[in-house]
Amino acid sequence: MSETADLRINDESYALNVITGTEKEQAIDISLLRKQSKFITFDDGYGNTGSCESSVTFIDGDKGILRYRGYDIAELAEQSTFLETCLLVLYGELPTAIELDAFKQRVASYANLPEEVMVAIRGLPKNTHPMAVLSCGIQALGGAYPDLATNDRAKDLERFDDAAALIISASRAITASWHRAQKGEDSISADADKGYCENFLSMMFSANEKDAGIPKEVSNALDLIFLLHADHEQNCSTSTCRMIASGGANPFASVAGATSALWGPLHGGANMAVIRMLNEIHESGDDGSRFVESAKQGKSRLMGFGHRVYRNYDPRAKILKSACDDALAALGVSSPISDIARKLEEVALQDPYFIERKLYPNVDFYSGIILQALGFPTNTFTVLFALGRAPGWLAHWREIALNGKKIHRPRQIYQGETLRPYVGISERG
Ligand code: CMC
Repeated sequence: MSETADLRINDESYALNVITGTEKEQAIDISLLRKQSKFITFDDGYGNTGSCESSVTFIDGDKGILRYRGYDIAELAEQSTFLETCLLVLYGELPTAIELDAFKQRVASYANLPEEVMVAIRGLPKNTHPMAVLSCGIQALGGAYPDLATNDRAKDLERFDDAAALIISASRAITASWHRAQKGEDSISADADKGYCENFLSMMFSANEKDAGIPKEVSNALDLIFLLHADHEQNCSTSTCRMIASGGANPFASVAGATSALWGPLHGGANMAVIRMLNEIHESGDDGSRFVESAKQGKSRLMGFGHRVYRNYDPRAKILKSACDDALAALGVSSPISDIARKLEEVALQDPYFIERKLYPNVDFYSGIILQALGFPTNTFTVLFALGRAPGWLAHWREIALNGKKIHRPRQIYQGETLRPYVGISERG
């Protein structure tokens, strides 16, 4: 027999179904509540609302657990690669060697931008932020491949394999082309012999196509960062992607919208904000203690700390903290802000303010330090988050396209003016 929860409103009782997930999480299903009672539920910020059933990612924020399709993030970080993890996230299973090879070839075939997309990107106003460039570039890709972006769900699903490979692959060229255009440099084509991250780094920073100067440790560090960002269930940008997809929009439109949602400093933009904060602390001569005090007084926020879901150490931050040491050693660079980050973490984790609120470092706390050491300009950090998150957004687009039945459309409690008569302009004073 299925479980129910009883809800009593005034004198009426309602038996609501209880949904149980495979990890024993439970939810009260209120989908018929308004029909039955005229009441809706209210949950500002959705902290207590399950918006869907999904089989992509499982998080237990209290225990610090993150799994893609049932695989623990630490095990994937140790043994998998970004492209292999892309297939896992997109389709639900680790690929065979043949499937992985086919995907790599598909990704390689879309590595260079169609001329018209390149022209569109290079024609954007010079102060356009790289996140806006990426979002525009992804929409332009849909324009260059209209057969993959029809807004006909059955057709878009049929061509999803190509759309996904195209977005995952060409996002690198969009980012690199813009970066080079800013410096007055020509774009560099992808080299079929190079791996996903090696190619990206080369397209960003090399002097020419044949430049072989990217050390393995560097491309491995970037691959790890991408893998750790591949999905994170119903966050702000993924929910945006699903919302857009629920209206029937194609993968390019949905991922471009998700990219915009990621931009803000409380979400993906935090990795840029962390570096700015660490630099400011460094320049002011503070060892971190003064900044922690100002965060406690609400005068500032300790960027890279806290998470809506994790009330324990973010497992991605744990992995990145040690990867940060390895990357700095491999690159032979010393980073004063890395020492400040560690001190800041030490001070915060001993402070009752942070302990009581269960605020721990999140994925953005150490990723920015590695990205800076790899040579990425600060304003591209959130773009790198987006590149890593693309498979997750696409997996959620696919889940909606396969299983979604309704357009997403929350309700509200209206708190504005009640009906009032129109006042002509001459009478308004
Ligand atoms: N520094 C200082 N105080 C904080 C911080 C912080 N980073 N984060 C939360 N708090 C305090 C907050 O002031 C509040 O205190 P009080 O109860 O006294 O009012 C309490 O902790 C709860 O905060 P909240 O804002 O209600 O928590 P939330 O779940 O709505 O916000 C968050 C989560 C990630 C937006 C927030 O922790 C934050 O702003 N962190 C800094 C930005 C950041 O690093 N974002 C990246 C998140 S991970 C990447 C991603 O997936 O997007």
